[in-house]
Amino acid sequence: MKLKNLAEYLAQVELLNHHAQQYYVLDDPEISDAEYDAAYRSLLDFESRHPDAVASDSPTQRVADQPLSHFDSIQHAKPMLSLGNVFSEEELNAFDERINKILSEESGDSGEIHYAAEPKLDGLAVSIRYENGLLVQAATRGDGQKGENITANVKTMPSVPLKLKTETPPEVLEVRGEVVMLRKGFDAYNAWAEKNDEKVFANPRNAAAGSLRQLDPRKTAQRPLSFFAYSIGDVSADFEFNKHSDIMAALKTLGFQINHLNQVVSGVAGCMAFYQKVGQLRSSLDFDIDGVVYKVDDLSQQDILGFVTKAPRWATAHKFPAEEATTVIENIDVQVGRTGSITPVARLEAVTVGGVSITNATLHNEDEIRRKDVRVGDTVFVRRAGDVIPEVVKVVKSKRPNDSVPFDMPTHCPVCDSQLFKADGEAVLRCLNGLNCDAQRKESIKHFASRKGMDIDGLGDKLVEQLVDAGLIKTPADLYKLKEAQVSGLERMAQKSAQNLLNGIEKSKQNTLPRFIYSLGIREVGEATALTLANAFKNMAALIAADQETLVSLPDVGEIVAARILHYFKQESNLAVIEQLLSAGVTWQEIKAPESAELILEGQTVVLTGKLSQLTRSDAKQALQSLGAKVTGSVSAKTDLLVAGENAGSKLAKAQDLGVKVVDEQWLVNQLN
Ligand code: IVH
Repeated sequence: MKLKNLAEYLAQVELLNHHAQQYYVLDDPEISDAEYDAAYRSLLDFESRHPDAVASDSPTQRVADQPLSHFDSIQHAKPMLSLGNVFSEEELNAFDERINKILSEESGDSGEIHYAAEPKLDGLAVSIRYENGLLVQAATRGDGQKGENITANVKTMPSVPLKLKTETPPEVLEVRGEVVMLRKGFDAYNAWAEKNDEKVFANPRNAAAGSLRQLDPRKTAQRPLSFFAYSIGDVSADFEFNKHSDIMAALKTLGFQINHLNQVVSGVAGCMAFYQKVGQLRSSLDFDIDGVVYKVDDLSQQDILGFVTKAPRWATAHKFPAEEATTVIENIDVQVGRTGSITPVARLEAVTVGGVSITNATLHNEDEIRRKDVRVGDTVFVRRAGDVIPEVVKVVKSKRPNDSVPFDMPTHCPVCDSQLFKADGEAVLRCLNGLNCDAQRKESIKHFASRKGMDIDGLGDKLVEQLVDAGLIKTPADLYKLKEAQVSGLERMAQKSAQNLLNGIEKSKQNTLPRFIYSLGIREVGEATALTLANAFKNMAALIAADQETLVSLPDVGEIVAARILHYFKQESNLAVIEQLLSAGVTWQEIKAPESAELILEGQTVVLTGKLSQLTRSDAKQALQSLGAKVTGSVSAKTDLLVAGENAGSKLAKAQDLGVKVVDEQWLVNQLN
């Protein structure tokens, strides 16, 4: 498309800014990337023909093409303050009491305080100044009085409007907030950086800081940075509000990204409930947070409360337990996984991270150890985000003992002593001894019995190890041959628990085909693929006989997965185990082709959230799929339905925001009946 005149050009600028906002701020794109690119090129074309007409808020103006030699220093119009901290409910009570006392003395106000509660984003504070609606300057916090001029870099961030979305902008508006690197962007950036010999960052915060301090804005533009507004600084009298939460709402309409978890709560109880809720969501969020912030919502109350040296008396941060700590590596062991993968594990001097004591951290693989140069005796940063396995992030080289030596991976399996191999292009060393290796035998049987697999009650990891060590089982099929006397002969095994185990094993015989396929532990075949295979083939004989062409024609099955499946069923030993399992009586209901009337969610995109009480999560997911739905992890404009269990959090809020239909667990159960 070719823009013919200035009016068309300006309309196109506005349209593109609208679409960028839909994409980056509201997570709700209305056009495809290709359409956006074509429209963007039409702007470039017009601007090259009319260089004098270039609009300052044209998206082409985000990236300056000259690197800076240094950052200028900028005096903040109003100081950028920090926040006091509380670490417990007790300290929060004291904070709230102090506020209540001052307010009742000064104004006679009494009653529960309303707080604007917000997540405390773990990034960098930035101030962005708008004059008559146009972005004129952006600065880092610096020492609070003076910061660095990072205007060129901030302009590259798509979530920062170059022009406020209003016909009547305030004369002056300084918007303050946090710049973060979203986690998915961080992972992708680090993967790219590693490939291209660029600096790899320890965490998203460092990555955000490093990116903002780039002298070349073209580099900053490549980093996935995101800006969340949380307050204002200098402002003209034409931008007046009574509440902090109203200011946030106004900033949202002006085009800024406001955290979707922000909420006004009442008193200490409200704050604590918010703290718990956000704490639970912490590991599932797109961005790192290190606590929550409570701000007195009423601005006239804020005025009365005022400031102490460097922080407001009307706000405080309530910190979460740190997710990072330093400790010493006492030893490095290697573990053998179900598929023979060899994982180095650091044994640590115990340290508390994220509120729990940890003594092990994964080192992933040999390349990671080399890259980070991790050695026994090193002092290291360990990090544990949410429920994920703790990992060693970085070595403190200055604390390395003089006699330390690089760690070498073993050449032979620590369990079965067979030689280890690394496949071309893979980072992982493997023991190829399969089920002849006791470690792999144990892990395969644990996988077989796991909740998502055959779900055998009473068969935990420890017991599997005991059974294998005692020579009672070699394959999953042997489980179905166990006798009570054999089991009760094991250490710490009373007759009752032996009977429970046998009951659990017996019960697992009545199962489903998707679970059975999953439990076999074929590489790359997880729950979703197992379901696809079960629905496509309906029985084991057909699956075993399937050829490559049929396999790759299935959704989600690519060439690698197909190759794994073919390889698995080529092994005589695997076929023998399947045969034995079936003759031991493992069975499932025949899969009927669902009648089309039953596919009430056909073609719909559904998200599950919150705690379910009647169904397990994987059953619920399967149930939705059996009704024709595509189940995805996050709520967006493409979501058709949200199934919300108890204590549903951000996804529910977002669905409500977007007007997505929400149903509860009972609704799903009713559909199944
Ligand atoms: S308000 C006067 N709100 O925390 C109020 N700060 O320790 C000043 N931060 O430098 C800040 N999330 O970088 C506020 N929702 C939030 C925040 C937040 C993160 C950071 C900010 C500030 C530091 C203060």
